[in-house]
Amino acid sequence: MLEVKDLDAAYGEVMVLRGVGLSVGRGESVAVIGANGAGKSTLLRAISSLLRPRGGAILFDSNRVDHLPPYEVAALGIAHVPEGRRVLPDMTVEENLELGAYLPGPKARRRESLAWVYGIFPRLAERRRQRAGTLSGGEQQMLAIGRGLMLRPRLLMLDEPSLGLAPLVVEVTFQKIAEVRKEGIAILLVEQNVQRALGLADRGYVLDGGRVVLEGPSQDLLENPHVKVAYLGL
Ligand SMILES: Nc1ncnc2c1ncn2[C@@H]1O[C@H](COP(=O)(O)OP(=O)(O)OP(=O)(O)O)[C@@H](O)[C@H]1O
Ligand SMILES: [Mg+2]
Repeated sequence: MLEVKDLDAAYGEVMVLRGVGLSVGRGESVAVIGANGAGKSTLLRAISSLLRPRGGAILFDSNRVDHLPPYEVAALGIAHVPEGRRVLPDMTVEENLELGAYLPGPKARRRESLAWVYGIFPRLAERRRQRAGTLSGGEQQMLAIGRGLMLRPRLLMLDEPSLGLAPLVVEVTFQKIAEVRKEGIAILLVEQNVQRALGLADRGYVLDGGRVVLEGPSQDLLENPHVKVAYLGL
């Protein structure tokens, strides 16, 4: 469904991604792991068209999408839940969710989508009239994921959903991501929590210095000596 081919990306003179290749099949969940500054967020930004690639191609359903504006990429069914959640603190939970349904198609299904998202995240339903800024970190992450789901995506991209959350809350967040996955939505998950990410994903890629240095089924990566030493601290 998603195919990233030989992707180069840069900020000004600084090359950040070099020849990155990656794919996500229908309903598949794929993890991208790597240290700080490896280029994980940049990869998601390039897929969302928030950053124009310097080279290579990004295809969705076999069509090039790397020259489309971000809203057209979103309209094809690619939702991006950014690093740091970025909920709007002064708006209510429900208003934040509605922002995720800003495109015409999702807007028409807004009521139905809200019920669906509240079904997955009952905690958000209880707090629908509460200001988003007053939610806990874990609840804000659920809200950010819920907002992404309001687009009714076929591919949900999550940038470090576990960042800054307590271990128990991380556990709940990953359970919720697993529920989303059961809805048949493909997931591209960027994480520094390697154990969790590979525990959830079917396959994974290791990004180092802007290059894919390892890829394979999650179980193989978890058993890989390099991954064990460099990312699992074993
Ligand atoms: N807007 C920007 N302008 C210039 N350089 C940037 C910009 N955003 C990121 N970079 C640089 O690009 C490199 C990759 O950053 P990126 O945010 O993609 O890494 P990351 O793997 O997501 O890291 P982290 O795990 O810390 O989120 C870093 O060296 C970073 O300093
Ligand atoms: Mg990042």
